Amino acid sequence: MRLLVTGGAGFIGSNFVHRSLAQHDCTITVLDIMGYAANPQSLAGLADNYPSRFDLVVGDICDKPLVDKLVAEHDVVVHFAAESHNDQSLRDPLRFATTNVLGTIGVCEAAVRHSKRLHHISTDEVFGDLAFDDPHKFTPDTCYRPSSPYSASKASADHFVRAYIRSFGLAATISNCSNNYGPRQHPEKFIPRQITALLSGQQPRLYGSGQHVRDWIHVDDHNDAVWKIIESGQLGETYLIGADGEHTNAQVIAYLLEIVGADPHDYVHVTDRAGHDRRYAIDASSTLALGWEPQHRDFRAGLAETVAWYRENPQWWANSRQQAEAFYQQSETITGNGGDATGS
Ligand code: NAD
Ligand code: TYD
Repeated sequence: MRLLVTGGAGFIGSNFVHRSLAQHDCTITVLDIMGYAANPQSLAGLADNYPSRFDLVVGDICDKPLVDKLVAEHDVVVHFAAESHNDQSLRDPLRFATTNVLGTIGVCEAAVRHSKRLHHISTDEVFGDLAFDDPHKFTPDTCYRPSSPYSASKASADHFVRAYIRSFGLAATISNCSNNYGPRQHPEKFIPRQITALLSGQQPRLYGSGQHVRDWIHVDDHNDAVWKIIESGQLGETYLIGADGEHTNAQVIAYLLEIVGADPHDYVHVTDRAGHDRRYAIDASSTLALGWEPQHRDFRAGLAETVAWYRENPQWWANSRQQAEAFYQQSETITGNGGDATGS
C-alpha cells in the first residue's frame, strides 16, 4: 500500500510514520510544510533505514498542483496536516482557516479526481466541551459545537469531508480522537511543556484553576486505531477514538512532579485560556467495534515513559521549547503558587 501522509513531520504523524514502516507492508511519502510545529529530527534516519519505502516532500497542502500530483501517485491519503494548537489559534485564526479548511478541501478534491481513499484525522474538540458532571460522553452523533478558532476550523474541515463523501462520492473515513501524549510532541502543548520545564529546572504552569479535564490517549493507540479504520472501517463513517483517560490538568501535573521526584506544590497557576473548554470525554464504541483496543491502559506509566523519552532527547526539544516559551511570555502572567487558594 502506498500511503501519502500529510503532516507526517508533526507529533502524531511522525509517530504514525515510524510505527507504520516498522509494522505494516507499505511505502510512505510525507507531505509536510516543515513549519514551526514540524521537527526534522522526528524523521531523521528513515530514508536510510527504509530505502525505497520512505520519502519526504516539503510542501504545502494548499498547493493544489503538488497535492494533485502526489495524491495521484498513492493508494491512500492519511491526512494529519493541520495547525493544531488552540493558543496559537486565538492569536491568528485565519492561518487555521487556511490550512485546516482550505487545505482539507484541496486534499478532498484531489482524492475525488483520482478516486483515492482518504482517511481524515480530526479531534474530539469539534464537539465543544462537556460539563464536569455530564454523564454523557461524545459519540459520532453528538452535535458539533466548537469553541475555539482551532476547533471551529477542524469542525469545518470535517463538514467538507462529509460533503465530498455525499456530493462527489469521496471514499473517505473520519476519526475524532481525544488528547494524545507520547514522544515527539511539541513543547507548546500541555504535557511536553511541563516535562521540559521540569527537566530545565523550571516550574510547571497550570492554566486557571487546573480543574479542566482532558481524556488522554497514548499516540501509539491512536495510530493503531487509524490503521484499524483504514483496513476495516466502513467508507463514509466517522469513528471516535479514546482510551477512557480522563484526568484534571492538576492531576497530570501532580503525576509529573511525582515522576521527577519534585515537591508536589512546586508549580504555578497562570492566566487562564480565553474560552477554555472544561472537559472532553470520548465514547470509543465505534472504533472498539472494529476490534481495536488501546494497549496503554496505565496513564501514569505512559507518562513516566514519556518523561524518560524527553530526558533522553534534549536536543530534540531545546530550540522548540525556547520558541514556545517566547510565545507564551507575550501574554502569560503568574496568578498563584501551587496548592494555594487559587487551585487544587
Ligand atoms: P502537529 O502540530 O504536531 O503536526 C502538524 C503537522 O502538520 C506539522 O508537521 C506541520 O508542519 C504540518 N503542517 C501544518 N500546516 C501545513 C500545511 N499547510 N501543509 C503541509 N503540512 C502542514 O499536530 P499533531 O498534534 O500531530 O496533530 C495532527 C493531527 O491530529 C491534526 O489534524 C490534529 O487536529 C489532530 N489531532 C490532534 C490531537 C492531539 O492531541 N495532538 C488529538 C486529536 C486530533
Ligand atoms: P493543550 O495541550 O493545549 O491541548 P488542548 O487545548 O487541545 O486540550 O492543553 C491541554 C490542557 O492543558 C488544556 O486544558 C489547557 C491546559 N494547559 C495548561 O494548564 N498549561 C499549559 O501550559 C498549557 C499549554 C495547557
